Amino acid sequence: MKQDIDWSKLGFHYTEPDYIVRAGYHDGVWEEPYATKDKFLHLHVSATCLQYGQEAFEGLKAFRGVDGKIRIFRWRDNARRMAQSAKGLFMAPVPEELFGKAIRLALEKNLDFVPPYGTGATLYFRPLLIGTTPRLGVGPGRDFEFIVIPSPIGPYYPGKFHCTTFIVNRYVDRAAPYGTGQFKVGGNYASSFRATEAAHAMGCDCIFLDAKQHKFIDECSAANFIGIKGNEYLTPKSSAILPSITNDSLMTLAKEMGLKVTRRRIRLEELADMSEAAACGTAAVISPMNKVVDTEKGVTYSFGDEPGPVLSQLYHMLKDIQYGRSEDTHGWCEIVNN
Ligand SMILES: Cc1ncc(COP(=O)(O)O)c(C=O)c1O
Repeated sequence: MKQDIDWSKLGFHYTEPDYIVRAGYHDGVWEEPYATKDKFLHLHVSATCLQYGQEAFEGLKAFRGVDGKIRIFRWRDNARRMAQSAKGLFMAPVPEELFGKAIRLALEKNLDFVPPYGTGATLYFRPLLIGTTPRLGVGPGRDFEFIVIPSPIGPYYPGKFHCTTFIVNRYVDRAAPYGTGQFKVGGNYASSFRATEAAHAMGCDCIFLDAKQHKFIDECSAANFIGIKGNEYLTPKSSAILPSITNDSLMTLAKEMGLKVTRRRIRLEELADMSEAAACGTAAVISPMNKVVDTEKGVTYSFGDEPGPVLSQLYHMLKDIQYGRSEDTHGWCEIVNN
């Protein structure tokens, strides 16, 4: 284990690992993934990823459990989602087994960077797929590079699990209804920066509404939305949002808790009937909302200053599985021998 890293103070920042993992795709064939210390690419200036944004990425974590074992959480789901993103941007999908091999290799080569249990820190993997064919005429490339960048990251909540204020944004649309919102591609993030950075400057996060009518909740900054209304777990149905693996896990756990899980279009005003609301994703698991502020309409939806009981329970249930404190009955964690 790296002795010079203060794990609990890491934050969500890049810490240089020893190795990254790469695999190229040329003439219709994927290379075997290999580890390299070189963190730079020799990339043609006309590569399709640079010219036309032909790139997709993922985000997943490995946890050191209470038993000292390392667990990679639901990597197959990230592999499948990346394959969907690849198809969405006319790229060669990374085969699931190659994706898994690359993640395991990135882990094995950077075992020293897996934070100890109890620090709240984790080893984050950023799989990246880029188009590398040089092209000036508009069109997709035929060559691709798959890269896995591991980095230890600190706990999302270095103190206690707490709430964040969210601001309703109507001046930036993250993704069109039949655009690329359902894919994890860089363009969606670049186009949302104007809204997310404005919210961050105020110490808040933002909520994106559906781009067509600005009536329904689509997503939060880089996370899905969830709300609790009576005995119901509500989450938006939209063609423009990323299918969150955390949300999928929480829906499963919510059903086990006896909640009714409903995925449907959610009008912004329905926040008034919810007892709890949150954003959910790999980074935080759950980021509960204390308030949602709709500045334009002069309305504030309040949920209390402390995380509510239902979302708190779900948060702890999922974290307990990830850290091996409760049984992984769904087979979500791959335990890696180390
Ligand atoms: C736009 C967006 N929505 C939702 C999510 C949550 O997805 P997951 O739970 O798979 O991390 C993320 C983060 O990855 C995201 O960037």
